[in-house]
Amino acid sequence: MTPKARKGIILAAGSGTRLYPATFPTSKVLLPVYDRPMIYYPLSTLISAGIRDILVITNEADRPNFVRTLGDGSQFGVRITYALQKVPRGISDAFIVGEDFIDGDPCTLILGDNIFGGYDMERLMNEAAEDEENATIFTRWVPDPKRFGVAEFDDEGRVLSIEEKPEEPKSEYAIVGLYFLPGDAPGKAKTLKPSKRGELEITDLNRLYLDEGRLKMKKIDARTRWIDAGTFDSLLEASLYVSDMEKKNGEKILCPEIEALKKGFVTKAQMQEWISRNKCNDYFKDVVRFMKKFKGPL
Ligand code: TTP
Repeated sequence: MTPKARKGIILAAGSGTRLYPATFPTSKVLLPVYDRPMIYYPLSTLISAGIRDILVITNEADRPNFVRTLGDGSQFGVRITYALQKVPRGISDAFIVGEDFIDGDPCTLILGDNIFGGYDMERLMNEAAEDEENATIFTRWVPDPKRFGVAEFDDEGRVLSIEEKPEEPKSEYAIVGLYFLPGDAPGKAKTLKPSKRGELEITDLNRLYLDEGRLKMKKIDARTRWIDAGTFDSLLEASLYVSDMEKKNGEKILCPEIEALKKGFVTKAQMQEWISRNKCNDYFKDVVRFMKKFKGPL
């Protein structure tokens, strides 16, 4: 059977209250992280996973800013469409809002404020994408698991339990904001009841897969940086991380233009045309520098 085209969703409809007053004028997911809007990072992650059909879920007020920022995605060789989440009803609600878009295909959901830096993510995501029958969560060791969804697993990596912000965590592995779900996720999401905090919890959706023996887990290597850029300090940490890495590597990281070139989603000529529409500042100069040494399609 040929694999179905996997869809991607970026969930970017939150209120960003922890970043008031920085988020008074705009969504958290459009604030700059170093030299680009935050949403470029999850977008870059989806592109590096080979996903071309992407739904951006926004709230009503911020939607025009998202459309102005990303347009139809053609500059990155992807198709971007938009949907509204009027009330932040929880992460699992993304599968209900996105039901028509998903249309029974496997789907990858990434939170708009989650930044994944580097080592081995592409391989892990490729493996997860191949499995269309099961759900895959990703975990990473954290010093403060109480703040996150936490997964307990055995020596073979089989998930034993998952809990949302547990008082007494059963492991030190947080479930990060990247979920590879099968095509039946919208139907399952619709059966969920809101939690005590009034949200359709992603942990509850994943638990339905766990109960059916369909929840897989991939451990993210400690060398991969995972930043949930939802607080003042983590927002600054993210900017410093990107700037440091780029200076060390001499190349941009998590840059959707570059990922699109690497994936063959756009040709060099198409990218050149996109760049020529913008002022060739330091950001675009770095993309041009990459293009010059890149041996991909012209
Ligand atoms: P959060 O950081 O939990 O929520 P938030 O963005 O509203 O921020 P704050 O807690 O400061 O008020 O959400 C993580 C990401 O998921 C963020 O990109 C927003 C998105 N999100 C939605 O779009 N809709 C939702 O219902 C929820 C819960 C989150």
